[in-house]
Amino acid sequence: MLPLPPLSLYVHIPWCVKKCPYCDFNSHALSGGIPEEAYVDALLEDFDSEVNTVQGRELHTIFFGGGTPSLMSAKGFDRFLSELQKRIRFSSDIEITMEANPGTYEHDRFRDYRKAGINRLSLGVQSFQDEKLKALGRIHNSEEAFKAIESLRGMGFDNFNIDLMHGLPGQSIQDGLSDLKKAIALQPTHISWYQLTIEPNTVFYSKTPILPEDDTLWSIQEEGWDLLEAGGFKQYEISAYSSPGKQAKHNLNYWKFGDYIGIGAGAHGKITERETGRIYRNWKTRMPSDYLSNDKPYEAGSRVLSGNDLPIEFMMNVLRLNDGVERSLFAERTGMAISDIESQCKEAIQKGLLEPDRLQPTKQGRLFLNNLLEIFS
Ligand SMILES: C[S@@+](CC[C@H](N)C(=O)[O-])C[C@H]1O[C@@H](n2cnc3c(N)ncnc32)[C@H](O)[C@@H]1O
Ligand code: SF4
Repeated sequence: MLPLPPLSLYVHIPWCVKKCPYCDFNSHALSGGIPEEAYVDALLEDFDSEVNTVQGRELHTIFFGGGTPSLMSAKGFDRFLSELQKRIRFSSDIEITMEANPGTYEHDRFRDYRKAGINRLSLGVQSFQDEKLKALGRIHNSEEAFKAIESLRGMGFDNFNIDLMHGLPGQSIQDGLSDLKKAIALQPTHISWYQLTIEPNTVFYSKTPILPEDDTLWSIQEEGWDLLEAGGFKQYEISAYSSPGKQAKHNLNYWKFGDYIGIGAGAHGKITERETGRIYRNWKTRMPSDYLSNDKPYEAGSRVLSGNDLPIEFMMNVLRLNDGVERSLFAERTGMAISDIESQCKEAIQKGLLEPDRLQPTKQGRLFLNNLLEIFS
C-alpha cells in the first residue's frame, strides 16, 4: 500500500469587520460580535465528524484562514487547540498559521495568540500607500501595518508572511515597486505577492475601477521579480516568495497534493482513505448561520476523484510550483501509474512547457500555465 500523504487542517473563520470590494472569499461583514463559543464548539464537532477517516495520522500544519481569524480571541484559539490536541496528535514541528489583519491588531492579544500555540502569522498588508488602501476599502492604514509588524517581531513571531497585492487601481510602476521594497525591508520570512483580480460577485466586478495598463502590469511583475530575488526571496510558487527554508508548509502540502481536513463554514477538504486508497474532496455548509444551526449537517457535499479527475487535479497543484515535483510523486499521491499520463507529458515536453525529467514547468510553461494544464485536462 502507498504511504499516505502528510495531513493538514484548514480552519475557516468567516467574518470580517467589513467586506472589501474585491473579495470573493466566504467572508461576511460582522453584525455584532463573533459568536465565538458557539463557533469553537461547532468547529470541534465538525472535526469530530471527520476524525475517524484520519485515525492514527498526525497533523503537520494548521491554518486559520478567513475572513479575519484575528477577530477571534486568544482564549478561543487556546480552547480550540487544546481540545484538538485531545483528538489528534500534532507533529513535533507543527506549523500553526493565523491570518491577521493589521486593523484588528492589539499588542497583548497577539502575545496571547503566541502562547496559545500559533507560531506563524500571515499579515494582510496589501499596500503601504494609504490612498491605495482606501481604494481597496481596507480598514487599516500603512502606519498600523508598520506598527503591527514591529510589535509582532518583538513578541517572538519571527516567522511571518506579508500579503501584498499589485495591479491596484491607479498604481504606477513606482507605486507597485515601492510597496514591494517596503515589504522586503521589513524582513518577513515570506511574501505573498498577488496581482489584483476582478472576481464575479464582488463590488469591483459591477463597478470596476480603472486598473493599470497591461504594459505597466508586466513591468511591475518583471521588476518586482528582480527586487524580490535581490532581497533574498526565492519564488517557489506563482505568488509565493520565501527566504531560505521558510516556505509555507501548509500551502506546500496543498500544492504537493497532500491531504487536508477543512472545517468551518464553507471549508474544503481532500482526504485519501487508508483502507480503500480512494481520494475524495468535501466541502462544508457555506453560510455561517446555517453552519451554526442544528438544521444542516456540517458537510454540504463530497466527491470521490476518479481516474479521469486525478491527473488534472494533481497537475493543477504541482505545476504551480517553480521546482515542480519528482515524477514518482504522481503515483504516490494518486495511486495511478506515471504511464497513465506519459503521452500528455511527452506532448508538454515537446511544446517546451514541461521539463523532461521532472513534473516541473519550464519558464515558458510558467508563463503559459493554462496551455500546459489544458494538455492534462
Ligand atoms: C483570504 S484573504 C484573507 C486575508 C485577510 N482577510 C486580509 O484580507 O487581510 C488572503 C489574501 O488573498 C489576497 N486576495 C484576496 N482577494 C484578492 C483578489 N481579488 N485579487 C488578488 N488577491 C486577492 C489578499 O492579498 C489577501 O490578503
Ligand atoms: S478582510 Fe480579507 S477576507 Fe475580509 S473581506 Fe477583506 S479581503 Fe476578504
